[in-house]
Amino acid sequence: MNHLTEAAHPLRELGQDKLREHTADALTRARRRSTGLTDAVDDADLVRQHSKLMSPLVWDLAHIGSQEELWLVRDVGGLEPLRPDIDDLYDAFQHKRSDRPSLPLLGPAEARAYASQVREKAFDVLEKAPLEGRRLTEAAFAFGMITQHEQQHDETMLATHQLRRGEPVLHAPPVPGRRTGALPAEVLVPAGPFLMGTSVEPWALDNERPAHEVVVDAFFIDTAPVTNGAYLEFVESGGYHERRWWSEAGWAYRTAHDITAPRFWRREAGGWWRTRFGLDEPVPPEQFVVHVSFYEAEAYAAWAGKRLPTEPEWEKAARFDPATGQSRRYPWGNGDPTPEHANLGQRYLSPSVAGAYPAGVSALGVHQLIGDVWEWTSTDFHGYPGFAAFPYREYSEVFFGPEYKVLRGGSFGTDAAAIRGTFRNWDYPIRRQIFSGFRCARDAGDLA
Ligand code: AVJ
Ligand code: FE
Repeated sequence: MNHLTEAAHPLRELGQDKLREHTADALTRARRRSTGLTDAVDDADLVRQHSKLMSPLVWDLAHIGSQEELWLVRDVGGLEPLRPDIDDLYDAFQHKRSDRPSLPLLGPAEARAYASQVREKAFDVLEKAPLEGRRLTEAAFAFGMITQHEQQHDETMLATHQLRRGEPVLHAPPVPGRRTGALPAEVLVPAGPFLMGTSVEPWALDNERPAHEVVVDAFFIDTAPVTNGAYLEFVESGGYHERRWWSEAGWAYRTAHDITAPRFWRREAGGWWRTRFGLDEPVPPEQFVVHVSFYEAEAYAAWAGKRLPTEPEWEKAARFDPATGQSRRYPWGNGDPTPEHANLGQRYLSPSVAGAYPAGVSALGVHQLIGDVWEWTSTDFHGYPGFAAFPYREYSEVFFGPEYKVLRGGSFGTDAAAIRGTFRNWDYPIRRQIFSGFRCARDAGDLA
């Protein structure tokens, strides 16, 4: 019988100098992305609210600076505040997204200057702070948390770009095609315990902790996420109008908003089209469906005679290696993502197709769990047994409860720094401006 274990983490073996270098690179990559997303549009566009669901891009930029000031400059560095007067403006809990445009926000030039002043100070702090001895700075955690925070807002800004009207301003090559033979439709995950979550990943956020044993019954999981082509069969067969596929809340939502297809799709004489970052194109049937709500995912799964995976099922399919009993950091093993492993990091501006990332397959044979699309699970967002908020309750704890569903795996718009096998995202089940898709699962009964 194998012992359930967690892989050790490579960051822990780096010396302090190498760790500082690694951390500075991660911060710099995040800033390069934020700069690209905000320099792509003019000042009028930066301060505009492109959708009631989103902040103006200029708010995200100064908020990124503000969080960095709070944690790296003031807390870790113990330095004087740069702009104590704007703390409230950029506190996400003080003002709803829809109200943010009417606040006296920093203008584009001021926001850029503020973010770079904070970054200079943060780099001074990174040079001097001992990266051990205190939980907040152990293995450079606070710097990793702030890197992830910036990358998370970069993905949010990318979603704002998708909602923006006008000519395309972001560009990327076409996604890779299939690089394997045809894949089986489903993979059997055997019954038994596995280690979920982590107690060793140094930059894991509080809600991923601690590692704990979970027993999962045998189940089948789709080898890859659901494609536009498969989803279209549900649409064309009248699935949006058949009450029986929908939960009560899902049906109420569907009818109240008269939703009849994924967001950004429209039916034209010649077939289905979609808008993607300002570009109109026919819906590509092989690519994974994106911009669906939890309720739509749930209805599709019911129509297909399946269900959504639970969060533990998703994580077992992604991390469990039956040969060793180990839960790996990523589906492919313990090494950080490379461009061969997954469609991450805004390298492309859409999800890819099944079999495009054979190097990213999990030990159990499941493809593309990381990257492409965030995957809805059927599980409400809650704390693991032994959860302790760290370093602030407002990152996760205040969102625990039945209003939020967990999404896993990251999308084409998620950076490698902000995703891993244990990473947990959450959102309301009605949300679909995010890069959300799904795969299905089903019970395996008495099998294996
Ligand atoms: C983890 C993506 C749900 O964007 O609301 C950003 C991340 N928290 N600033 C969000 C976050 C604070 C969060 N999600
Ligand atoms: Fe934030």
